[in-house]
Amino acid sequence: MKVRAPGRVNLIGEHTDYTGGLVFPMAIDRWTTIEFEESDSGVFLESANEEDTVSIDTAQPFNAAMSPTWGRYVSAVASLLESPQPISGHIHTTIPIGAGLSSSAALEIAVALALGAELSATELALLTQRAEHMATGVPTGIMDQLCISSARHGHGTLIDCRTLEVTHVPIPSDIKIVVRFIAHRTLVGSAYADRVAECAAAESLIGPLRNASLADLAAITDSTIAARAKHVVSENARVESFADALTNGDYITAGKIMTDSHRSLAGDFAVSNDLMDAAVRDMNETPGVFGARMTGGGFGGCIVALCDPDAVVEGWHVQPVAAASHLS
Ligand code: GLA
Repeated sequence: MKVRAPGRVNLIGEHTDYTGGLVFPMAIDRWTTIEFEESDSGVFLESANEEDTVSIDTAQPFNAAMSPTWGRYVSAVASLLESPQPISGHIHTTIPIGAGLSSSAALEIAVALALGAELSATELALLTQRAEHMATGVPTGIMDQLCISSARHGHGTLIDCRTLEVTHVPIPSDIKIVVRFIAHRTLVGSAYADRVAECAAAESLIGPLRNASLADLAAITDSTIAARAKHVVSENARVESFADALTNGDYITAGKIMTDSHRSLAGDFAVSNDLMDAAVRDMNETPGVFGARMTGGGFGGCIVALCDPDAVVEGWHVQPVAAASHLS
């Protein structure tokens, strides 16, 4: 039997999901695939991309200290399923690991499917988001898992993270989306959790950022907290204008909004770095590029660009693909 789960690139709506904001990621044509057989007990997985194998006794509770580290995702998912199907299988992935393209969410969702999860896209996303928290200790949002569990071929997934409503927005065929890898990163030990806490601090002062206007931010006296909140409030607005511009074929405006998003992430939200900023500048100077930004949690990873199909751009031309599923 075989299951596979795609990676995702976030087109826009960065660091908004954990405050119930708007995000607009797209599942991409890079996958984590598990070929497996049902077995009598336990979960045994080997990986083409990692040296050590993972062997889990599903009768045991989740093991946060388990080695190899990737086994923690498997153990967390298995521990959250009511009756995980014992399997023996082989994993391979074409999603670069630690590049901000959701290799971990794809692994969690592929494992959940292989272990027999029969859940709606939303339930699957919520379960695997919990698994991510258990495995890494990082308080990530719902974007990655919900995109991967619900994506539709040819579309981006516009998600309202307050209601978890997904709107499938067609990705026009007369543009090209390019992802360029810049540097490996991990959110474990990064300032990701600090940003979550800073947003929570802003919300304790002015209420949900999703409902706030830029004028409301005047009530925040701490300049760091105010800057973080300004990013989130302005980014939510950018997601809506970006989706409109893309749908209307106004790629110049869509690209400009992406570049504005990068500026906000680098300045107000402080999750970029010199390498990413230089890569975005370089991308924006390339003929045929409408706009570019860092994508994912930040502190490294990838940048994403909206380009004319004829633009000569270094990177992967990614295609919008369907959600994770069983293949056989
Ligand atoms: C990571 C998290 C997501 C989201 C992004 C930033 O990818 O897993 O939940 O917060 O960072 O937009």
